[in-house]
Amino acid sequence: MNLKPLQERIARLTEEKLATLNIADPRLAEAMRYGVMNGGKRLRPYLVYATAEALGAPEQQADTAAVAIEMIHSYSLVHDDLPAMDNDDLRRGKPTCHIAFDEATAILAGDALLNGAFELLASAPDLTDRQRLTLIRILGKGAGASGMVAGQCIDLGHVGKAMTLDQLENMHRHKTGALILAAVLMGAAVATESLTPAVEDALTRYALAIGLAFQVQDDILDIEGDTAVLGKQQGADLALNKPTYPALLGIDGARQRATDLIAEAHAALADVPGDTATLAALANYIIERDH
Ligand code: IPE
Ligand code: IPE
Ligand code: MG
Ligand code: MG
Ligand code: MG
Repeated sequence: MNLKPLQERIARLTEEKLATLNIADPRLAEAMRYGVMNGGKRLRPYLVYATAEALGAPEQQADTAAVAIEMIHSYSLVHDDLPAMDNDDLRRGKPTCHIAFDEATAILAGDALLNGAFELLASAPDLTDRQRLTLIRILGKGAGASGMVAGQCIDLGHVGKAMTLDQLENMHRHKTGALILAAVLMGAAVATESLTPAVEDALTRYALAIGLAFQVQDDILDIEGDTAVLGKQQGADLALNKPTYPALLGIDGARQRATDLIAEAHAALADVPGDTATLAALANYIIERDH
């Protein structure tokens, strides 16, 4: 799947939108750029665009939502890598933010990316106030205490401890699935003010399935990936005795679960109107990816 044109669009837009934030300290500006302008796959923005496209919205209507969710995701990675969390020193092929700068700056750069995302959404062009509010609500929910942040907390609370499969999936759904669900629902929100419950339900089923599959694949890549391709240290979960899918089910069990989830995602798309080809291709990409 060719993610490049979209990656370039995101890079350009992110530069533009960061410039509008009037970042009042040069070192903070540098660390924020370092955390976000650095070769991520941009999967969440891609989901925003693909969902908006399926529901018939022009690309530019999705631009601010796409940048905002990537800023949140990037902040989550800057914080995830901190010594108090996963203590990683490689991210997206470069030293992590706290290594390149220092811990305090990395924490603050993450904070500023997080706040900046909502500031941008509040005045997103080409949308109605109601759409802006919906986007802010969806992103706040997915990123916060009922979503990603809770997942990170569950993760760190279980290092070195046994987990049941249900507990593991609950953790994955929060730490990774919630933001992926937010990406899809944000794509829908930029396209329409009146999403029908049936379509919302189908998009939610799609997003939850690929979100879980995404983290299953992340866990598999921690074992089977190559540090140079991954852009982050292979074996990092193992070294910290992290609860992961392969740790619980074995590598084949994990792979089978990921495949089943992608089949669930395709089934859900049958209930989404419009051209869902890009969403379908993204589902496949999630378990075929090598980084
Ligand atoms: C990594 O996310 C962290 C997880 C939620 C599993 P990505 O694999 O999307 O990381 P980037 O954005 O491409 O670096
Ligand atoms: C991170 O999960 C999920 C986030 C919310 C950032 P991981 O800790 O597995 O992500 P990587 O493997 O460091 O990218
Ligand atoms: Mg982590
Ligand atoms: Mg990590
Ligand atoms: Mg991981």
